[in-house]
Amino acid sequence: MSQMLQGAPWLLAHTSMLSANQPRKISLYGTDYVLWKDSAGNINSLPNACPHMGAMLSEGWCEKTDRQTSAVVCPFHALAFDRDGCTVLPGSNKKTLPQLTPLELIVQNDFIWSYGGYEPKMPIPTILNEIAEQYTFIGHTADTSVTTDLLSMLLNMHDYNHQNGTHRPLFRIEEVQFEQFIDDGYRSHAFYNMPTAATSLSEKLTNPILLTLPKVLTAHLENHFPSLVIFYGQSVLGKVAQIHIFVPESETQTRTYVLMYGISKHPLFNSLGKQFLNLAKVVVEQDSAILSKIYPHTPQRIKLNNEVGMDWVRRNFEQFPEAIEPNLSR
Ligand code: FES
Ligand SMILES: [Fe+2]
Repeated sequence: MSQMLQGAPWLLAHTSMLSANQPRKISLYGTDYVLWKDSAGNINSLPNACPHMGAMLSEGWCEKTDRQTSAVVCPFHALAFDRDGCTVLPGSNKKTLPQLTPLELIVQNDFIWSYGGYEPKMPIPTILNEIAEQYTFIGHTADTSVTTDLLSMLLNMHDYNHQNGTHRPLFRIEEVQFEQFIDDGYRSHAFYNMPTAATSLSEKLTNPILLTLPKVLTAHLENHFPSLVIFYGQSVLGKVAQIHIFVPESETQTRTYVLMYGISKHPLFNSLGKQFLNLAKVVVEQDSAILSKIYPHTPQRIKLNNEVGMDWVRRNFEQFPEAIEPNLSR
């Protein structure tokens, strides 16, 4: 069983997370890469270790190679590497052969995917393109690298019982009423309701989103194993699609971040964008906090109701990348 599911596609970033000509470090499968967007919007990616003396290219800067494209410049001795990994050595005016092998990226709309150089074993989910078509992009938040393995991260995200523990301080969720789980192999849907305790006026004022929350939170999660969990929320003001993304940086480090999309049904909705992002950020902080307070590999001797999402994760992990007989619907 692979602990990092080599052959699955991973969403490394949304293009809005990269400023033009600003190098940024991304980790995948234990290797660091430098990602940068040139003025034409092309996304480039090279291994982050400079082939001269190993400096982190992501700590350097970008230099225009022509009007639109750019190279990344090493912060140590200022060698500039173009998107193919070629450089021009001082005293020479000829490009070298590639000194670095670019990481293969698949850019769809604003979504930057990669198989990390492995042979694809499953297709890239199309759901994000569909969301981008129907919804307006609100923003990204909570880009966090958590010291935990991929499986622990996914178990947490598909654990429908942790709302009233891990996230209790935020929503005052009193219980989770599980409704339905639809197992569709590497895709699934979960529906549940969460009645919340009343919040005081001062709580509402410090967290205005609470004003828009109904007494019972209705959750619909759409899951695309292993990289995406999409939370669809509805209120009278509009609809949000909160997309949680996972990236296995190494065996022991897993990255997560959130992309937020919305459909406004009321002018007030648009002014709430920042609040939605802040709320998602708190949710991710709470999840990261609990993940760092778990003894990994503790034998599970107690099983609660509604752990079907975790059963789904474990089964998919074990089966990956074989075809799956869906048998967990209920
Ligand atoms: S280490 Fe990068 S140019 Fe020397
Ligand atoms: Fe959570």
